Amino acid sequence: MLSFLNVYKSFQSEPESIEVLKKISFQVQSGEFVAIMGPSGSGKSTLLGIAAGLDQPDEGSVILDDVDLTKEDETSLASLRAEKIGFIFQNFQLLPGMNAVENVGIPLYLKSSLSERQILEKSMNLLKSVSMDHRANHFPKQLSGGEEQRVAIARAFVNDPKIIFADEPTANLDSKNSRVVLDLLLERNKLQNTTLVIVTHDPSVAKLADRVLEMKDGEIVSTSGLGTKGSSASKSVKSLKPAKKAKAAKKKRK
Ligand SMILES: Nc1ncnc2c1ncn2[C@@H]1O[C@H](COP(=O)(O)OP(=O)(O)OP(=O)(O)O)[C@@H](O)[C@H]1O
Ligand SMILES: [Mg+2]
Repeated sequence: MLSFLNVYKSFQSEPESIEVLKKISFQVQSGEFVAIMGPSGSGKSTLLGIAAGLDQPDEGSVILDDVDLTKEDETSLASLRAEKIGFIFQNFQLLPGMNAVENVGIPLYLKSSLSERQILEKSMNLLKSVSMDHRANHFPKQLSGGEEQRVAIARAFVNDPKIIFADEPTANLDSKNSRVVLDLLLERNKLQNTTLVIVTHDPSVAKLADRVLEMKDGEIVSTSGLGTKGSSASKSVKSLKPAKKAKAAKKKRK
């Protein structure tokens, strides 16, 4: 569903330009969970932004569901993102002038047939799933880093995206909330077949992925894991609740 073909990106910064992605090629299958690891500055966030059509490469193609994102204008990219992409930014990027529940609803205000009340209701339910409903009326500056991160995660779920890109989604969370967020991501992946591409420094997150891409200096230096969607599902589903586990196993048998 997602292909990078010879994707090259550099940033001009005096006195020299920095090559951040050096002709990267890889594919992610529909329903796959791919973790991206690598040292700070290796190009992970840049790659994720390009994959979601938030940034454009200098060269190469990025194909998402048969659409080459490098050939689309900003209006159609925005519409495509609202329709099928969930994005969790490394620095959250909540809008400061909106409270938590309004921030969660943003992707739906951009493109949805739901009424304002339905959007609010759906956003509240998602805030509840990340234990943030008691902060629904608070503005980002009144929230802690971990709380902002959980609002950002709820926002990435609100349009029921086909693919979720998450940039270190558990980096600011304590172990309990980290577990909650991971379970929510895994649940989407296993039960709704949502494709997951997660940048992480946490080996325990990467362990749950179908495949791990290791980046170094703007290149993918290794790929590990089973690489076949579903074959590691039994391992991943372990962390889900029993009823969900049964449902996931049933789906897997289909
Ligand atoms: N807008 C920009 N202008 C100039 N240089 C940039 C820009 N964005 C990123 N870079 C540089 O590109 C390199 C890769 O950055 P990127 O944010 O993709 O790294 P990363 O792997 O996500 O790192 P981290 O683990 O610290 O988040 C870094 O050297 C960074 O300084
Ligand atoms: Mg980064």
